[in-house]
Amino acid sequence: MHTDASRPQLFRTVTSLRAFLLPWRRNGKRIGFVPTMGALHEGHLSLVRASKAENDCTVVSIYVNPTQFAPSEDFARYPRNLAGDLELLSKEGVEAVFAPDDTEMYPPGFNTWVEVRGVSEPLEGQCRPGHFRGVATVVVKLFNIVQPDVTYFGAKDYQQSLVVRQLIRDLNLPIELRVLPTVREPDGLAMSSRNSYLSPQARQKATVIWKSLKLAQELVEAGEKSPREVIRRMEEVILSAEGAMIDYVALVDPETLAPVEVILGPTLAAVAVRLEGTRLIDNMMLCPKG
Ligand code: PAF
Repeated sequence: MHTDASRPQLFRTVTSLRAFLLPWRRNGKRIGFVPTMGALHEGHLSLVRASKAENDCTVVSIYVNPTQFAPSEDFARYPRNLAGDLELLSKEGVEAVFAPDDTEMYPPGFNTWVEVRGVSEPLEGQCRPGHFRGVATVVVKLFNIVQPDVTYFGAKDYQQSLVVRQLIRDLNLPIELRVLPTVREPDGLAMSSRNSYLSPQARQKATVIWKSLKLAQELVEAGEKSPREVIRRMEEVILSAEGAMIDYVALVDPETLAPVEVILGPTLAAVAVRLEGTRLIDNMMLCPKG
């Protein structure tokens, strides 16, 4: 971590950010990019630190993208704390922060969408129709604005990282994708900006998610081959928390996200749970012994 807290430069417009990045690019400097929706936590900071270590210039975007939220979702109350975020990013020595407003990103007449098929369809795609269209569209826009050499995503949003990998490939974007491990609280809860919605009781109950994933790992390591049995045991753990509602508990192929029939190799356990109306997702790669 940098202690010589020099504030990152804050850019509100595409033009001003591009003007700032031009000399870096012209001088052959490597640009790392961490897209975020702000309300930064250690999970985001782990991505920022990786970018700082591997690049000459790190750009962080802070933009709560309206097009990835359905009307019934939490766009309006999504936590926003630009001053606090800038403070954290100063300590990391980030060079530039891009925090546009909605008119900068979606000016009147905006009418182009990026839709990734396949990996965007199951799991989150089923529960949140249109979500990945909004994510893919804003990510491609941000990539075009920043034109980074490398971009950093967190494994907590595993399906999102597959969607981004697919669009980078399909659209021939010259960007390396780095997906870094989920950062967890000491009791295992995956760090997420949405954790701030949880009451102390719900926060306590949320530990069932991590417990269910750990149990799945233990079962698979002990030789359990039946996804149905693993899912049944995971659901039992999750539903032991009063009021917990399961959107899905799934064991899927880590590349295609298709449900697995028998656990023979690495399998992704993916979970989405609602607690007091707050939706939490998490996942773990399960690896059978040998
Ligand atoms: O993961 C997120 O925070 C968002 O989905 C992203 C990638 C910044 C796009 O808005």
